[in-house]
Amino acid sequence: MAKKQKSETIYFCNECGYESVKWLGQCPACKSWNSFVEQKISTADNITQVDYENIKQPLSLNDIKSDDTYRLKTGITEFDNLIGGGIVKGSLILLGGSPGIGKSTLVLQVSKAISDAGHSVLYVSGEENLSQLKHRAERIGEFNDNIKFLDETALSKIVPVLLKEKPELLIIDSIQTITENDTGSIAGSISEIKNCSQILFRIAKENMISIIMIGHITKDGAVAGPKILEHIVDTVLYFEDDKVKQYNLLRCYKNRFGSNKELAVFEMTQSGLKEVKNPSMIFLEGKPDDTSGCAITCSIDSNKPIFLEVQALVTKSSFSIPRRTVNGSDFNRLNILIAIIEKRMKISLSEYDVYVNITGGLKIKDTSIDYAIIMAILSSYRNIALSSESVYCGEVGLAGELRSISSIDIRIKEASRLGYKKIFIPSVALDNIDSSVRENSKIEIIGINNVVS
Ligand code: TYD
Ligand code: MG
Repeated sequence: MAKKQKSETIYFCNECGYESVKWLGQCPACKSWNSFVEQKISTADNITQVDYENIKQPLSLNDIKSDDTYRLKTGITEFDNLIGGGIVKGSLILLGGSPGIGKSTLVLQVSKAISDAGHSVLYVSGEENLSQLKHRAERIGEFNDNIKFLDETALSKIVPVLLKEKPELLIIDSIQTITENDTGSIAGSISEIKNCSQILFRIAKENMISIIMIGHITKDGAVAGPKILEHIVDTVLYFEDDKVKQYNLLRCYKNRFGSNKELAVFEMTQSGLKEVKNPSMIFLEGKPDDTSGCAITCSIDSNKPIFLEVQALVTKSSFSIPRRTVNGSDFNRLNILIAIIEKRMKISLSEYDVYVNITGGLKIKDTSIDYAIIMAILSSYRNIALSSESVYCGEVGLAGELRSISSIDIRIKEASRLGYKKIFIPSVALDNIDSSVRENSKIEIIGINNVVS
């Protein structure tokens, strides 16, 4: 006898997902009011009674046809590299960042580049009306007819346009302004964001439409919406909150189709964002030559080499407890490095104030700048300038020994390309250098065992 088909109802909290067998006014988990919604759940019996004719069959890798042109290239090299070589067709990208950081400007530039390359784009804006969009677009350049603009916030009205136009790229600016339909639901609520993005995700996959979705976060990252989205989308890009100098840093946090350790550097200009082609040098601009207390180092940020100047000022203290200050690095780390100088090099700094500054405004967590900090402190203490053509890299251990650091080849190659004459690295890292890097670089590589040597 065929089993009776069963189905039951559960209620779950729209805010936190808490499940209950009966409706509740307040969620016991997250304490939200009126957040419970009903959902029918099917039992296993129901799932096994399927129509096999209408079901997708699994394929072996050999039977799957791959499309060679499956990435849309924007030609904005920094952006293409950031997402692993272009926008994968049918993928969903989330672009987050605080208001005014340049999200709309970037997507408009990306849309222009894609449409200039002959692909169709639909730009849906829930934030600006068409004439505002036109003003913004005029600052960026001339647009062709491959790109169409729509100011609409109801997904029920966007989807039919989307399915009719079938663009290769869809822009949603922003997901917080979109509601599923225009019957009074509140845009920006967690359930709306989740529902709308899931619908868009399904359409993207089924029709091979790539989507870039903008999501706002506040300064403290408080809006939970985009955080939920991170699980749904394929790629997550975030504009760094604080501008470093005048630059806008865009980071990749998740990428199903490439590395998530990428960083792109842009500069906002009168005509939109301009990519910074040589980001490794931007933090060294304005460096004084032949001044004591300055050491150059190369840190690695998201696989990108970044050259930085470590400045130290060691002066006679007029306080009973000497002052130690550090800007751009860890304060406790500075105290450890000073202790290493005192103990291993037998230099007493107890009567000196030590101020250390990493120029450029970046907060560096990379311990490979230890050696440069020590060299800058010693240079200031002895009042002898270090060569501005030398780079110092290495983590320093408590015994004063230089410990190995990552990405040694990247640092050497970039230092050589930028014309530095010498790079000081831990001796233990010498063996890790690729022979081609050693042969092709014009820089003298010097291994250091210990800060004492
Ligand atoms: P916007 O892209 O609107 O930021 P978001 O979408 O992240 O909120 O714009 C960021 C700022 O950049 C805004 O203050 C205006 C400015 N801007 C320029 O300086 N040049 C330009 O060409 C454009 C389009 C904007
Ligand atoms: Mg915007």
